[in-house]
Amino acid sequence: MNDRIGRLRARMAEAGCDAFFSLSPPSNAYLTGFFGSTSCVVVTQEAARFLCDFRYTEQARVQVSGCEVVEVTGSLETRAGEHLDALGASRVAFEPSTLTVQQFGQVADACRGTLLPQPGVLVGLRMVKDPTEVARIASASALAESVLREVLAMLRPGVREREVAAQIVYEFLRRGAEGPSFDPIVLFGERSSLPHGRPGARALAAGDVVLIDMGCLREGYCSDLTRTFVYGTMPGPWFEEIYALTLRAQRAAVEAIRPGLACRDADGVAREIIREAGYGDHFGHGLGHGVGLEIHEAPRLNMQSDAVLEPGMVVTVEPGIYLPGQGGVRIEDLLVVTEAGSEVLTRLPKELEIL
Ligand code: GLY
Ligand code: MN
Ligand code: MN
Repeated sequence: MNDRIGRLRARMAEAGCDAFFSLSPPSNAYLTGFFGSTSCVVVTQEAARFLCDFRYTEQARVQVSGCEVVEVTGSLETRAGEHLDALGASRVAFEPSTLTVQQFGQVADACRGTLLPQPGVLVGLRMVKDPTEVARIASASALAESVLREVLAMLRPGVREREVAAQIVYEFLRRGAEGPSFDPIVLFGERSSLPHGRPGARALAAGDVVLIDMGCLREGYCSDLTRTFVYGTMPGPWFEEIYALTLRAQRAAVEAIRPGLACRDADGVAREIIREAGYGDHFGHGLGHGVGLEIHEAPRLNMQSDAVLEPGMVVTVEPGIYLPGQGGVRIEDLLVVTEAGSEVLTRLPKELEIL
């Protein structure tokens, strides 16, 4: 943890800033080890303070390392500005993606220094995971896989998407996860064409596509997994075609993942295969994203991304093809980039399976 604050200090100095603050729970967990919903971390070259209110003080005294814990009352943002001011901060770095406009104003009003958005100053550190972080993500991934196997066994004609989603969350908690890393996506039949559809009252019937996208949290770290199945009988040749194509694109992208590869080129590997087969318009999202303390974090693997893969990054590879009103396919694995290439953390098979 102290090392993380040390590395943050080096990045602050590179950016010409003498101070940093964060009101972001995942970033604060990263810097201090505190997993709670409301806190502020203030860092200068000499000081590191963790500000929280009474509700979190006891927890903070146990969890926080590398920072002085200070209990505050009233507006956390105003107190943060005052602490920065008292520490003599003049050029104050912050991650713009994690701060609201209102928070910015409140901190700025209480501090004579200038608040300077520094995209990546902390997120750039979080992007590359250490072995402990990778182990936690792998553990969350393994637990989610075992839950997926279990809930597949409960599929019966008439079961509703929402019931399966509820069972997933229940099994996560029962088996020792802290909870889901996002609301599970369970979609049957034609509804599988909704890339991020919400589970509803749709009842399962033979011949349905079954798309399940799920992940859990273990020791603060997320997992992410999608598999698409069919129930009972094949919906039609159209489905076999888009499944085979998605799988081919997904495997090609997984093979391509290695250090030095531009994230936009990783996206391009899968996109080109899907485009060449005439389904380019039906793959309207990016190839994947980083996973860590948040389910979606840097780097993004999409056409616009400027990021380049590095050892220690944990990313998803999840192309999909979605035919409105008919059905869709997404296949999602979690990978860690290694010195030599990548290791796939997801172990479940990917061949088309009729349940
Ligand atoms: N679970 C959302 C996603 O796969 O990005
Ligand atoms: Mn997912
Ligand atoms: Mn994902």
